[in-house]
Amino acid sequence: MSADPPLVSLSRDGAVALITIDHPPVNALSRDVRAGLIAALDGAIADKAVRAIVLACAGKSFCAGADIREFDLPPQPPHLTDVIQRFADAAKPVVAALHGSALGGGCELAAGCHYRVAARGTRIGLPEVNLGLLPGAGGTQRLPRLVGFDAALSMMLDGRPRAVDAGEMAGFTDSIVDSDVRAAAVAFASRVAEAGLGPRRTATLPLPDVTPEVFERHLQAARKRGGEPAPEKIVAAVRRAIDMPFADAVAYARADFLALRETPESKALRYAFFAEREAGRPGAEAASGSPRPLERAAVIGGGTMGQGIAIALLDAGLEVALIEADPAALARAQQRIGAHYEEVVAKGRMASNAVPGIIARLDGGASIDAAHDADVVIEAVFEDIGVKREVFSKLDAIVRTDASSADALATGIALVKRLRKVGVVCKGKDGFIGNRMLLLRTRECLFMLEEGALPRDIDSALTEFGFAMGPLAVGDLAGLDIGWRNANLRRQLRELPGRDCDLLDRLVASHRLGQKTGAGWYRYEAGSRKPIPDPAVEALLIEHSRERGIKRRAIPPTEIVERCLFGMINEAGHILEEGVVSRPSDVDVVWLTGYGFPRYRGGPLFYADRLGVAHVLARVEALRERFGAAFWEPAPLLVRLAANGRGFLGP
Ligand code: 3HC
Repeated sequence: MSADPPLVSLSRDGAVALITIDHPPVNALSRDVRAGLIAALDGAIADKAVRAIVLACAGKSFCAGADIREFDLPPQPPHLTDVIQRFADAAKPVVAALHGSALGGGCELAAGCHYRVAARGTRIGLPEVNLGLLPGAGGTQRLPRLVGFDAALSMMLDGRPRAVDAGEMAGFTDSIVDSDVRAAAVAFASRVAEAGLGPRRTATLPLPDVTPEVFERHLQAARKRGGEPAPEKIVAAVRRAIDMPFADAVAYARADFLALRETPESKALRYAFFAEREAGRPGAEAASGSPRPLERAAVIGGGTMGQGIAIALLDAGLEVALIEADPAALARAQQRIGAHYEEVVAKGRMASNAVPGIIARLDGGASIDAAHDADVVIEAVFEDIGVKREVFSKLDAIVRTDASSADALATGIALVKRLRKVGVVCKGKDGFIGNRMLLLRTRECLFMLEEGALPRDIDSALTEFGFAMGPLAVGDLAGLDIGWRNANLRRQLRELPGRDCDLLDRLVASHRLGQKTGAGWYRYEAGSRKPIPDPAVEALLIEHSRERGIKRRAIPPTEIVERCLFGMINEAGHILEEGVVSRPSDVDVVWLTGYGFPRYRGGPLFYADRLGVAHVLARVEALRERFGAAFWEPAPLLVRLAANGRGFLGP
């Protein structure tokens, strides 16, 4: 039996020691890797023949940082901050050889080395903020010294990786090479040793000039991410560079990092990170199938959604047939897709000569026959069972296939990966996951409007909770006629006992369809998307309540949030029970990626578990007492979980 290869190895190339991390898939700096790094460094320092050291990583990338899976455990020595400090203090020059990406602790490790050689195309980043954290292993102090305060703060606050040869990153790297980076780093290290340059410690580099305005500007940007503690902590940690000795500032940042690790926001963001990756993993059914080749797609429906899907498919290199029965709507859709690419070019994100080739891959048709040679057909018509039935019966006439559904599933999963989207496998039940839960939220919004809330009350309660937009402003953006066509929603509003809410019908009848008509739940100035409260809507609501004998009352934000979210959570209980989706975390992934649920709250089910399922159940039961079992009957799963003291996502 052969032993596992070491996670960190030490070899020698002449007078240069080569320390290599080999910890697939992303060379995360787990406890064993950290211990291995110290052992290898000690070995290289002790070897008298070694005059310089190169630190490199095996595989397709340098290093993705600390091992996020360890963040739920107590910190285990050797700590990354200390490991990096050992490299920084090394008596022999240390050169980092970078390729792929160097992220988080990986970027901090590289910054702690004395020199950096990078393969062209390498990306460096400090994405800790996306996990509700700050760079906790010296990055807050070393990055400003290498790239300046402004660029370092931008990196830490937006969390996006930068190309190593981007102008703002100029100070990070000593050499960018097109050849094999490890060999180039060894040659670089040899030259450093021969020239007797010795270690160049980042901590001793002069602090770049900075004005208070830079911190103020970034602080304002950080505050815009209200609800998340990490961004402001990042600015404070970087600022310590100007009034604290280096080692103290690093220690403070690490203490803040450890405190942030324990916040509910960071736990939610880490959960979201792994839930999204889990969602992409096929279940046994798809794993047994083989993806079919994908060259040509047909998209049925030329509305906003169909246009967006067509663009994503074109971007992924597929040929696209856009099928729309209404010729005027088809022309509009094609024109909007063209306009989208003009905008991308104007923003400098694409060369203008690339556009004709993309547009050449798009053709339109009024008949479903145009889908006959498509490898995949995507339906993007209204949420109306009649329309969907018609589309599918026509499709059955031309796309029927003997291929097994496992192959079809595997093909779908492959397509999602190609589109660089996050996909969730679910059963084809009415409303799937997201829209089915959304229906409950929309219903409650409409009920609260007739009970006394104004659109801005509901929207501000939900944006305060963390949604980027309130549900009524979203309705205006999507078009109120879209929700209105949903027969299930209409049934909930008008046919269940005790309610007869025709608000949506009234708005649609008076052609208040949202932004596209300049008026919906709000009004809109020409050319503006800013929702403005509209007295006409307020008058309509008051009249509606009066007609139904409803005494309007102020609805507190806590009630608004509960009624919007707990109905959704309860519905998720039914969805899980019916096996529409196999993993509870997939429900959260749908809401995080598709419906703007605040990421730092983890998704509806993570949020429910945090509150405690028993608490959610108690509130649902209280709502049942007030509004009736037709609307608020607790899902059996919710009752069972609460009785067993369990959460949706585990104990
Ligand atoms: N720790 C543990 N596991 C990690 C990881 C990390 N830092 N980064 C990625 N992984 C795992 C993923 O969970 C996935 O596991 P799976 O195969 O079991 O699902 C596997 O590595 C591959 O990841 P992806 O599917 O995301 O692969 P991609 O090639 O699409 O992307 C990546 C690679 C760009 C590195 C992406 O994984 C990523 O962004 N990782 C997170 C990077 C990050 O946030 N680093 C900061 C960590 S916090 C830190 O360093 C603290 C320090 O300041 C002290």
